[in-house]
Amino acid sequence: MSDAPTQKVLFEITEDQVDTGLRGFPTSFVRTSAVDPGDGVSYVGYPIEDVAFIEPEAAVYLLFHKNLPTDQQLTAFKADLAGRATLDPRVIALLGTLPKEGHPMEWLMAGLTFMGMLTKTGDFREDGLNMIARSPELIANIFRLREGWGAPITSKPELGLVENMVHMLGVPGADPAKLTQLLRVYYVIHMDHGGGNLSTFTGKAIASGLADQYSSLVGAMAALYGPLHGRANQECLEFVKKVSDATGGRADGDAVEAFVRHELATGGKLYGFGHAVLRAEDPRARVQYTLGNEICGDDPLFRICALLRERGVKVLKENVKIQNPYPNVDAVSGSLTNACGLTDPEYYTVLFGFSRIAGIAAQIVDERLVARGGKGVPIYRPEDVKKDQPLRRLNG
Ligand code: MLT
Repeated sequence: MSDAPTQKVLFEITEDQVDTGLRGFPTSFVRTSAVDPGDGVSYVGYPIEDVAFIEPEAAVYLLFHKNLPTDQQLTAFKADLAGRATLDPRVIALLGTLPKEGHPMEWLMAGLTFMGMLTKTGDFREDGLNMIARSPELIANIFRLREGWGAPITSKPELGLVENMVHMLGVPGADPAKLTQLLRVYYVIHMDHGGGNLSTFTGKAIASGLADQYSSLVGAMAALYGPLHGRANQECLEFVKKVSDATGGRADGDAVEAFVRHELATGGKLYGFGHAVLRAEDPRARVQYTLGNEICGDDPLFRICALLRERGVKVLKENVKIQNPYPNVDAVSGSLTNACGLTDPEYYTVLFGFSRIAGIAAQIVDERLVARGGKGVPIYRPEDVKKDQPLRRLNG
């Protein structure tokens, strides 16, 4: 008899699960966050609604250290990040050479590639923290250079990650205090969503071949760029604007409901509703509705979002085949960002990426340096299934 401990059977995989985008397949043990279909995401055991309003750096600390920091630890961690924050000026010079036709996510991928080429150390933890610390300057300059808002604004890392980014963005016409209030929460709630979401999975897969942290994050951001993943937040604001145009900008529940019914009947969809894993309202959406009521409750597009939350769910629920008729994180994020002065939806996935870099980098550190007693997860190499194809020979 074998002495090997009995292993828990996690999943039985049947043939009909093949070619379903790995749905239902376990990918890895994830230590940073977990997604429950009913309760949504928790960070190291803390429900997202409990940590959504903590300091952005405390959330990063939580994902990296698996504990919330004490006041002293937080002060030291913020100082550590601030000490790493200076972006190599050659990265900004290179950004200035990029074509404006490129999508901001393509600029982000290029920027991370330049950062890797010029400043990587090859250590997953160091490079992860450096990337987190330097991304505010990178992102702020993607906006400024691509939009022609003027010369880069000098970084003040002592302000904090989000505060410094808002300072360096210098968004024309925006109220920096309000934008900061929004982006602090936005940064925390978008940071991590388990290990199976496409960008995180992709980043970890690339890192498993021992490509460095920067290259892994470039691949992760390419995954996030897809409209079925992170770029959905761009499309959501475009959809909310469409609802607003079609209903004459009136915050009228019946008009919104009529639009939704018409849209679904004519093959359209309700952007920002449903989710691959969640089966209830996304708590990250709930956090944003609450914040929206506080900071831009009268904003016309936010009002439309609030009505879509009510009427959209009502209409979707009538279709018993729909597993999740509830809003997800993207349903309202664009309207809040728009109300706080960042009005071009093309940039919204970059803001998502700004935050998700921290979660993916933390998960990569866990897989490379902690998993399997520190040996790390081997190179990803899942099995494939032959499709009834006999072996053939070229010559006879
Ligand atoms: C999300 O944040 O909702 C995701 O990255 C999408 C997912 O979990 O698959």
